[in-house]
Amino acid sequence: MSQRRILVTSALPYANGPIHLGHLVEYIQTDIWVRFQKLRGHDCRYFCADDTHGTAIMKSAKERNIPEETWIAQMKEAHLKAFTGFQIEFDHYGSTHSDANRELCGSFWQSLLNADLVVEKEVIRLYDPKVGMFLADRFVKGTCPNCGAPNQNGDSCVQCQATYDPTELIDPKSTLSEATPEKRPSKQLFVQLEKLHSFLDEWTQEPGHLQTESANYLKNFFLKEPLKDWDISRPGPYFGFQIPDRKDDYWYVWFDAPIGYIASTKEWCDANGQSYEDWWKNSDTEIHHFIGKDITYFHTLFWPAMLKTAGFTLPKRIHIHGFLTVDGKKMSKSDGTFIEALTYLNHLNPSYLRYFYASKLSANDGDLDLNTQEIISKVNSDLVGKVVNLASRSAKFIQETGLSETYPEDGGLFQQASAEGDAIAEAFEACEFSQAVRRIMALADQANQYIDQQAPWKMKKDPDQAQALQDVCTVALNLYRQIIVYLKPILPELAEKTDTLFNKPIEHWEDAKTPLVNQSIQKFKHLMTRIEEKKVNAVIEESKQPEEAPIAGGEFQDSAEPLEKEPLSETIEFDDFMKVDLRVARIVEAKEVPEARKLLQLTLSLGGEERRNVFAGIKAAYEPEALVGRLVIMVANLAPRKMRFGVSEGMVVASGPGGKDVFLLSPDEGALPGQRVH
Ligand code: MSP
Ligand code: ZN
Repeated sequence: MSQRRILVTSALPYANGPIHLGHLVEYIQTDIWVRFQKLRGHDCRYFCADDTHGTAIMKSAKERNIPEETWIAQMKEAHLKAFTGFQIEFDHYGSTHSDANRELCGSFWQSLLNADLVVEKEVIRLYDPKVGMFLADRFVKGTCPNCGAPNQNGDSCVQCQATYDPTELIDPKSTLSEATPEKRPSKQLFVQLEKLHSFLDEWTQEPGHLQTESANYLKNFFLKEPLKDWDISRPGPYFGFQIPDRKDDYWYVWFDAPIGYIASTKEWCDANGQSYEDWWKNSDTEIHHFIGKDITYFHTLFWPAMLKTAGFTLPKRIHIHGFLTVDGKKMSKSDGTFIEALTYLNHLNPSYLRYFYASKLSANDGDLDLNTQEIISKVNSDLVGKVVNLASRSAKFIQETGLSETYPEDGGLFQQASAEGDAIAEAFEACEFSQAVRRIMALADQANQYIDQQAPWKMKKDPDQAQALQDVCTVALNLYRQIIVYLKPILPELAEKTDTLFNKPIEHWEDAKTPLVNQSIQKFKHLMTRIEEKKVNAVIEESKQPEEAPIAGGEFQDSAEPLEKEPLSETIEFDDFMKVDLRVARIVEAKEVPEARKLLQLTLSLGGEERRNVFAGIKAAYEPEALVGRLVIMVANLAPRKMRFGVSEGMVVASGPGGKDVFLLSPDEGALPGQRVH
């Protein structure tokens, strides 16, 4: 097998928040794949960095009254602590706020300009006059222009799924200052992606680059139509890189973020006497990006477009994973299921989560559920009960003698498990980790059966069986070690402890093919303990954050606007209310009043032969024919009012500001004309 040169990245986590178990789906998945490639002997390197630019970072730094640089330095330290804690091993971890990145951005930019892909356009954007800056979409809230749902985000509505421009929001508010933003023109730069349409069509649809479902999604949702120009500049103040030769424009964070993959590589190359171009401008390098499905668009359209234009190697594959849910639900701070990496590490062994994720991950982008009972049972019955148990059941019997001099007869078990290595490797290669784990566990089952049948604890009692005991334990321990070779990408710590036990490190996948013989072994030390439910609960307890008490009926999302426009009147006594004689009435006739633009003339019945003539300002909202027969509520003791067209003998009640927005009140079914309302 020839050595491959493989460059791997995970998405750069935002420097604005802690690493949580959702992120770790990706970083653990990538780390396993990288460790697997390294164990196979390939020249594989794993690069990542913090994604540090944009308005969210500015906001956080401002809130803390510290410079952005200080804030991102603190976050990077916290991120690295989390990654190290979970044994995620980068070859280099950089930052997008680096000289290397700034330079590379400059050269990508020049390529875009040279290719004539950049245009300037004037756009209207929302500006917060209090804070003195243009607002990113997510810092604006307002009423959905499509369905009228209040309190929606700047770019889309959760109620009706409409997407829109923040300038279309009704009653927009800046979430930074509560100010009403102004619409201001801003000259911005755009990349004309459409010019690369046919390239992107070809690249995304070429088998191998993307999972089929992602390729289809792009084809059906984006590539079907002309691609929109990509808004690539942001007016200052902005925390990011200023665009050369532009007075007050910065690159949008999504321009410099993926270039951060290359910048991180370059920093590593500079420190290790290599050239980053050997990695990024070399068709011999396989580039693999691991990302979550929420950022597909950026990685499958913008990024290939940028790489292509700047003459870099295109990714061989973009591996897209789904989202983490906890106990079937979105992670939630109030449920304690929004679990930060460092909180987990306060109570639990990282190997548990690495193993659990591996046992659930496959090559598709389906969501992955972390079920607390399931992780407990998988760790305790599979990992500890089956795998670790192989060693603890056999090592103690041959501490003095060591392994047998030659590999004993084992009924073909070792040979069979060694042959299975190819299928397991294929599963790892294809990111079908759950399948790899299933196959490995089947081997553990076989090995356990072997030990059960041989029962070394019985042999131990009979001095005549000393050789047989050594042989059985030699087989059992070799079967164990073989399994650990296969599990090493997932469980590096267990592999290390196993290295110590055998006085011999696992260095290569192929180590699973040769049994160890004639070798002393270390005194057996616990390799891994069972997961305790109370510790899982402690993680959840520590993650619980008191959320503001939810408002009753908050799910109905009614706007606060009507009440704000017309605040409640002063308090009255019951007697005051009773002065108003409200009655149920039936509209028995309705007609237009030709001389009056807004009025309808209604004949109301209060039952029997009681009739009232009422003029109502509801013409813009109701067709007269549609009103005949329906019940309404009327103020029956209002003094008659003489009008140009006749006398109005009362009033029908309605809500709404007027014009088309008038809503007559009706009683529920069963009410009778003439009944009093109180
Ligand atoms: N900064 C961007 C990526 C820039 S890449 C040039 C970003 N950062 S992030 O911190 O929000 O997410 C980092 C990665 O973690 C993304 O791939 C994202 O999909 C993944 N995940 C974040 N939350 C997740 C879950 N709850 N579940 C699974 N993956 C999740 O996006
Ligand atoms: Zn809506």
